[in-house]
Amino acid sequence: MTILAERTESAERTRPTVADVTERAAVGDVHAWVAAVAGLTQPDEVVWCDGSERDGLVAGMVATGTLLPLDPDLRPGSYLARSDPADVARVESRTFICSCDRADAGPTNNWREPAAMRTELDGVFAGSMRGRTMYVVPFSMGPVGGPISQLGVQVTDSPYVVVSMGVMTRVSAAVRDLVEAGAAFVPAVHSVGAPLVGGADDVAWPCNDTKYIAHFPETREIWSFGSGYGGNALLGKKCFALRIASVMGRDEGWLAEHMLLIRLTSPQGRRYHVAAAFPSACGKTNLAMLRPTLPGWSVETIGDDIAWLRPGPDGSLRAINPEAGFFGVAPGTGESTNPAAIETLARDTIFTNVALTPEGDVWWEGLTDEAPAHLTDWTGAPWTPADGAAGRPAAHPNSRFTVAAAQCPTITDGWDDPEGVPLDAIVFGGRRATNVPLVAQAESWEHGVFLGATISSERTAAAEGVVGELRRDPFAMMPFCGYDMADHWAHWLRVGAALDPARRPLVFGVNWFRKDDDGRFMWPGFGENARVLAWMVAQIDRARGVRTDVGAVPSPVGLLPSPGALDVDGLDLDPATLAALFEVDPDSWLLEADLTAEFFATFGDRVPPALRTRLAHLREALEEA
Ligand code: OXD
Ligand code: MN
Repeated sequence: MTILAERTESAERTRPTVADVTERAAVGDVHAWVAAVAGLTQPDEVVWCDGSERDGLVAGMVATGTLLPLDPDLRPGSYLARSDPADVARVESRTFICSCDRADAGPTNNWREPAAMRTELDGVFAGSMRGRTMYVVPFSMGPVGGPISQLGVQVTDSPYVVVSMGVMTRVSAAVRDLVEAGAAFVPAVHSVGAPLVGGADDVAWPCNDTKYIAHFPETREIWSFGSGYGGNALLGKKCFALRIASVMGRDEGWLAEHMLLIRLTSPQGRRYHVAAAFPSACGKTNLAMLRPTLPGWSVETIGDDIAWLRPGPDGSLRAINPEAGFFGVAPGTGESTNPAAIETLARDTIFTNVALTPEGDVWWEGLTDEAPAHLTDWTGAPWTPADGAAGRPAAHPNSRFTVAAAQCPTITDGWDDPEGVPLDAIVFGGRRATNVPLVAQAESWEHGVFLGATISSERTAAAEGVVGELRRDPFAMMPFCGYDMADHWAHWLRVGAALDPARRPLVFGVNWFRKDDDGRFMWPGFGENARVLAWMVAQIDRARGVRTDVGAVPSPVGLLPSPGALDVDGLDLDPATLAALFEVDPDSWLLEADLTAEFFATFGDRVPPALRTRLAHLREALEEA
């Protein structure tokens, strides 16, 4: 006993601190950094990953009950994971930006002083992996070695996270070789915070009530503790590809954005690339996999959640999807709403927190019109449609699928071209029952940045909080921008100014979710959204002189389709509803403008003057209207 105590004490004395780990990371020697993390967290074993470990880890998780195999005839190679019921979404209240200067985090992020946060993290990470294996996962965001790509290394004590990272990012021996040879990487430390001590039995979903999702923008580090879920734990996604990468982009002249990416092909065979930012769970995956109802048009998928945009040598804005998979919201995904997603999920998919059928397949609200008579719900409890009627969904509203992008039937050829695609249009959208028109075109790049900066949307289940409440979500980046949001707007203005005006993407705002007085959606959405995309393409052609007819009329909130320019042929849409979709009520909009002014005021003098001018311009136009 005494010997053990002495050993522990001496281990404590020699245990590296979080600050020591940071120092090792700064040197760039991946092995020294891994050794320091292991010294801090004290796992039983350290295992380096290159993707080849997947099958062994899956078999291990099936044995421990973390993964439940689905019926191989119904859903080959697929599994269901049930999380701890308290670990089901991103925890924005425990997400921190630890920049040296508080002002750099801005008023919309939770800021912590870096040294103080390192000390706090010391307290939770010390010994946090005892009794577990620490996996070292070298990964690439974007094609390995590409000009827009970046490398990262995540250490984690969760095999579920290793396997999920293997789907969502590029994990390979080639990446491992690169980081071992000294290539720069973003160091990302993750622990579920559930050490196995004194022979304690493990649980299917270990986690900790205390959670930290901490980012250090200056040292480009990520430290995540206590959660195994999605964006909290798959650190390549929100933590790296958005929060840390947005800071890299600010410093290096590019943009990391919460955007889907598609290729649209017109009936004439011309190709257009569109990036679109929508808040979480507002239909990015549906738009990314849209099946156009308009004859002759096609949409191909490049990405469904994140895009990195970088000015190309020719003055265009080039974009890649830095991810390799989709971590999509399951509820609402069905044959009628997103057939391509349904086909993507037919095999080799990890489902988390969906319901299980008696036949060993999965189900969630919206997969079929009618729920099966008997299910096991996401918590493992029996469920019948009566439970659903009583307000207890079978699948958690933020239940997810994790699946390789390559499995998607609409994925573009060359979706992983390291050079990316040149963008023709950028779209900003939100979920708004009132006020915001179906589509409006920005009059200029500055106006486009204003549209992005003023997105507001009804809250969804993707993060904690009251569903339905209206929240400001500029650029759909509110929870994801690693620096001051107003500086992000200024950075957008700078990036746009550096592009060739003839190749600069046009910017649009959309709202698929406007409702009538009876609370019904006025626009059919889904495949019919292709009609709006087709109008955007016509506007792009006009801007390039390919078309000379008039397609838009001015309004206080931007250019709206001129009468007849939006193809609504064959839609069951009466003229009054069509008009209501585009109605701009000056009084309501003046109130919106007041709210925007209040919102801008929270950023003080960091709001770029061009955006203040746009707001003044909006007010004037509304007053004249
Ligand atoms: C996501 C999110 O998981 O935005 O993509 O929450
Ligand atoms: Mn997202």
